[in-house]
Amino acid sequence: MKTFMGNAAVAMAVVSAILALATCGTNGGNTSDSRSAPKIGLLLPDTITARWETQDGPQLEKRIKELCSDCTVERTTAKNDVAFQQEQMESMITEGVDAIVLVAVDARSLRPTVRKAHEAGIPVIAYDRLAEGPISGYVSFDGEEVGKLQGRALLRAMGDKARSGQIVMMNGDPIDPNAVSFKQGALSVLKGKVKIAKSYDTLQWRPEAANANMSAAISALGAGNIQGVYAANDGLAGGSITALKANKVDPLPPVTGQDAELAAVRRIVAGDQYMTVYKPFGPEASAGAAMAVAAARGDSLNRIARDKVTTRDGTEVPAVMLTPISVTAADIKNTLVKDGMYTVRQICTPQLRAACKKEGLT
Ligand code: GAL
Repeated sequence: MKTFMGNAAVAMAVVSAILALATCGTNGGNTSDSRSAPKIGLLLPDTITARWETQDGPQLEKRIKELCSDCTVERTTAKNDVAFQQEQMESMITEGVDAIVLVAVDARSLRPTVRKAHEAGIPVIAYDRLAEGPISGYVSFDGEEVGKLQGRALLRAMGDKARSGQIVMMNGDPIDPNAVSFKQGALSVLKGKVKIAKSYDTLQWRPEAANANMSAAISALGAGNIQGVYAANDGLAGGSITALKANKVDPLPPVTGQDAELAAVRRIVAGDQYMTVYKPFGPEASAGAAMAVAAARGDSLNRIARDKVTTRDGTEVPAVMLTPISVTAADIKNTLVKDGMYTVRQICTPQLRAACKKEGLT
């Protein structure tokens, strides 16, 4: 818990600093200058993973408005379609938006469009996923650290079984650069410590694909021969757990996750999922909004960024890199509930009442 307190304090400090800087930039706090009201394009990737539409989208819009009351935000979702996202971004360029916040479906395919925006003088802020091409700034969490937290938690949950047992890995979509970092981080912890019997990459992060892959793994390995499941996010964890239950795997092996989705938090309380990785959306959205507003006003992003990240082109860009937090049942109260992400009432359905009580969630 000490670690979380530290992280929370750091996150708060960063957010206050960001907000202070964003509102006192050269044009900050003076939106009634001669320029016209800035327009910010916000490109989200899909509706499969809950966070984009339920957390990132609304929080980014809210914070942009707080920093710049006359800013307008145009928000789209690409529904996981690369060509559709290219079109959405092209039309924002034609329209002449002042800045773009991009969560790329496929960073590589979007590269020419990012270049086009840059040539049109429109700064692009890569949000959560590192985009390719000439971006102006980046906001995210340390992806390798996410994978390490998941890997370490899985080994801890497996205990002695890690030595003799085996795990199945459900990784994300390799066109998402974060998925590559999560996998790398996890492998750096798991390799040599436990046998990885099967490893799958999951196109479009689809829970139903994880479900089919887990059923195949159970058929190949035998229902009693999976002692742990590395799932890169909560959607994949959910799909895997459904397959384990359908195949009567009892007791369930520990399963990891990421994103602190409400359904996953409930599974953690119920004992079906071991952990999730909480990446506080507030600080990420605050940093993304501050960068977007500064970029739209033509202000420097160096005033907001405390880090630097090197893109695939070898260019250093100003960045805000936040710290992910590992959450098991015992941590829910002091992390997700304390931060106001969910109330105990939201988490604790009538069926979970007894389990909630056991975890001190009352
Ligand atoms: C990643 C993101 C994760 C997860 C995943 C699925 O890029 O960092 O939080 O949501 O995408 O969309």
